Formats: sequence, C-alpha cells, structure tokens
Amino acid sequence: MSIRAVLFDVFGTLLDVHSVAVRADQLFPGQGDRLAKLWREKQVEYTRLRTLSSRYVPFTQVTEDALHFACEALALPLDAAARGLLMHEYTQLSPHADVVPALRRLQDTGTTTGVLTNGDPGLIEDVLHGAQIAEYFDVLLSADQVHAYKTAAPVYELGPLTLKHPAHELLMVSSNCWDAIGAKWYGYVSFWVNRSGAPLDRLGVRPDGVGATLDDAVTFLMQQRKH
Ligand code: LAC
Repeated sequence: MSIRAVLFDVFGTLLDVHSVAVRADQLFPGQGDRLAKLWREKQVEYTRLRTLSSRYVPFTQVTEDALHFACEALALPLDAAARGLLMHEYTQLSPHADVVPALRRLQDTGTTTGVLTNGDPGLIEDVLHGAQIAEYFDVLLSADQVHAYKTAAPVYELGPLTLKHPAHELLMVSSNCWDAIGAKWYGYVSFWVNRSGAPLDRLGVRPDGVGATLDDAVTFLMQQRKH
C-alpha cells in the first residue's frame, strides 16, 4: 500500500471536546457530562437524519439545534447567554495532547495532510486557528461542499477528487469508529484512534489500523510505506 496523503477527522480526533462538558458543568452544576453526551449524540443523529432525507443545514446549525434539544430533554434552562457560551466553547477547543507532536512528525515526512470533516468551513477555520494547528494542513475538506454528512459517500469522495489520488492511496484517521469504517467502506485505508478503549462498531468491516494515540496513526502510516 502506497499512501500519498492523510486526512483527519476534527471533532474528537484532533480537538478535545471535553472542555464543552466542563463549561456545561459550570452553567448547570452536576449536569455537564450528561448534557455534553446527549448534545454530541443528537448532533451526530441530526447529521445522519438530514443526510438520509436530503435536508442539509450547516454543522453549526445542527450543533445549535442539538443543544436546544438536549437542554430541553434534561430540563435545563438554556437562555441566550448560556447558549452563547456553550456554542462559543465549541469554537475554542484545544487539541488533544498527542496531536501537535504527531502532526510535527508527519510534517517531517513531507506527507500531504488535510482534514475531512462534517464541520462547515467557517467553523473549521476558527477551530483550527484557535487550536493553533491550522498550519499543519494543506487542504480543508468539508461536508458543506457536498451538502451531506459522513458517512455518505460524496463526503469521502472529496478526498480523491481534491488530492488526485485514489482512495486506497489515502489514509483517513478518526477517533469515531463509525467514521473510520465509513472511510473504509468508501475505499480508504483507515485508522481508528481509540483513546477511550471503546468497543468496535459492528458494521461488517474493521479499520485497517487501531491505536490509542495519534502518534500510533503516524507509526501505522510509516509501516504501510515500508511494505
Ligand atoms: C467531524 C466529526 C464527525 O469532524 O467529528 O467530522
């Protein structure tokens, strides 16, 4: 396998979304983890429902809609100030501790690098600059370009179309098992960064590589190149 470029998922993979739970807990003491979890679940569910029925709205809107739902479901009063703080938190995420060292290592190899994300371009530029990792990426590919969300094929197709290499020469790295599998279904070589020791999603295929850190993904890339 000759891998020509690497694409990363953003939320959870590069950026640590835990600070959202911390902020939520400040606003709603004792409820932060539950709110952050339900918010994230609904956010992902809405991306899938909207894609299934061709009802695209940008990820920022999906995220805000999911926040309203999650607060109502948990009987938490979401006023404009709390909504503003939580949505702002989403644009201020920090990278996981293993991210910058792994991106530097990758940069030293001269590998073309990008993100392939559900996030809309405005949000992605903000979060990557905010996290001070924008400089590591040659391309920013967004679901917004095709008005559909992962795991729809047109999203993954952005990689081969933009990078001018077939999917089997591209590595997709994600901390969402379902995303690593979606990429594999499309034809990528895929790597699942399983930081939390989550179980494998049972969808009939496995990511080509699994590890606990982003550095493991870079090591996987190097190993593929040796073969
Ligand atoms: C993304 C979400 C799926 O960045 O984490 O695409």
